[in-house]
Amino acid sequence: MSAENTRQFDLLVVDDDPRNVKLLEGYLQNAGYRVRCANDGPTALALAQELVPDLVLLDVMMSGMNGLEVCRELKANPRTRLSQVMLVTALGDEPHHILGLDHGADDYVAKPVRRNSFLAKVRSLLRVRGLLLELEDARSQLAERNGELEELQALKETLSQTLVHDLKNPLTAVVGSLDLLERRVDEVNQPLVSRCRTSASRIQHMIMDLLDIAGLEHGRLTLHRENVDALELLQKAIDDVEYAAQSRKVQVEITPPEDDCSLEGDSSVLRRVMDNLLTNAVEHSPSEGVVTVSLGMREEGIEVSVADEGPGIPEEHREQVFEKFARLNLRESGVSANRGLGLTFCRLAVEAHGGVIWVETAPSGGAMFRALLPASEAVEAAESAEAAR
Ligand SMILES: Nc1ncnc2c1ncn2[C@@H]1O[C@H](COP(=O)(O)OP(=O)(O)OP(=O)(O)O)[C@@H](O)[C@H]1O
Ligand SMILES: [Mg+2]
Repeated sequence: MSAENTRQFDLLVVDDDPRNVKLLEGYLQNAGYRVRCANDGPTALALAQELVPDLVLLDVMMSGMNGLEVCRELKANPRTRLSQVMLVTALGDEPHHILGLDHGADDYVAKPVRRNSFLAKVRSLLRVRGLLLELEDARSQLAERNGELEELQALKETLSQTLVHDLKNPLTAVVGSLDLLERRVDEVNQPLVSRCRTSASRIQHMIMDLLDIAGLEHGRLTLHRENVDALELLQKAIDDVEYAAQSRKVQVEITPPEDDCSLEGDSSVLRRVMDNLLTNAVEHSPSEGVVTVSLGMREEGIEVSVADEGPGIPEEHREQVFEKFARLNLRESGVSANRGLGLTFCRLAVEAHGGVIWVETAPSGGAMFRALLPASEAVEAAESAEAAR
């Protein structure tokens, strides 16, 4: 290896015998390396921290801190862990060779040091050091790229969230105007306007779902909790799907609860949970099918269930349907407005309320979605007082 190639390497010779230091320093300097020297362990460690050496030539038997301890510290320190370490040991001192390698040393050389084989080992360790530095460089470049990609991803997410958010207000105006128009329009055009309004409010719900999913996933969505009458909420949600149900000749029936079903929750979030379950049930119902909605007080809380007479959901897909963008058997027709977000929203929203939601088979063979939500404390207190009587 020429002096030109070796110039960039920094070597550190550590030995408490100045004669040994002189000898190794001489060999190395003549071979063109830049060399620093230390006569004890602590000084060697301090020098290594100052300027990280490519290779440390370390005497084992030093007074005070011995070479093995210095080696262990160098390898434990993130700054110097990639520095190569060659132990300089007494001839035939096999236990120290083994111990040294176990302490993280990369090689050893026995005293008296023979110049040519010593320099060959130095070159070999410096080649390894060069490769390690290349690897480290590639690793940190990758980490940097990764960081940039993550930043880009976050930016992309923020941009799409902003876009989705900005669609919300104009759409609210469209839905509001169509609402008014629906009441004033003549009978011939009424179905057309109703269809427009239902579709526009469907898009509006999708947008709200998207925004809320992002909020719920990042823990940013604050629920505005209030006392909610679950029956009233369900009835409103049923009204919302009425048009879609009528056009598919589907009947939505509700079994009213025997008890008061009040819960503490965010009424607009919970209403959209019910909307989503009902929309799915209506969409998957056969023509002239019945969607059965029931509400009741259970020991674990308030249960809402929505059952249909559709094809149901095979057991192996019952968890998958709650995942983002999950859509089973994409319809033969190809294009569908569905985006596989409704149930993701439902699960996140129900869980944010401290509840659970799952799907099973309805008595009719269709799908039956069931959600359990904690009852409001007032209702629970009344229940337990009743039970104590
Ligand atoms: N009642 C049901 N019967 C049968 N399959 C259902 C039912 N509800 C949901 N699924 C299946 O689960 C998938 C996910 O439902 P989800 O409500 O999350 O999305 P989507 O209805 O496809 O779209 P959107 O985002 O508009 O709600 C549906 O695509 C459908 O395959
Ligand atoms: Mg849906």
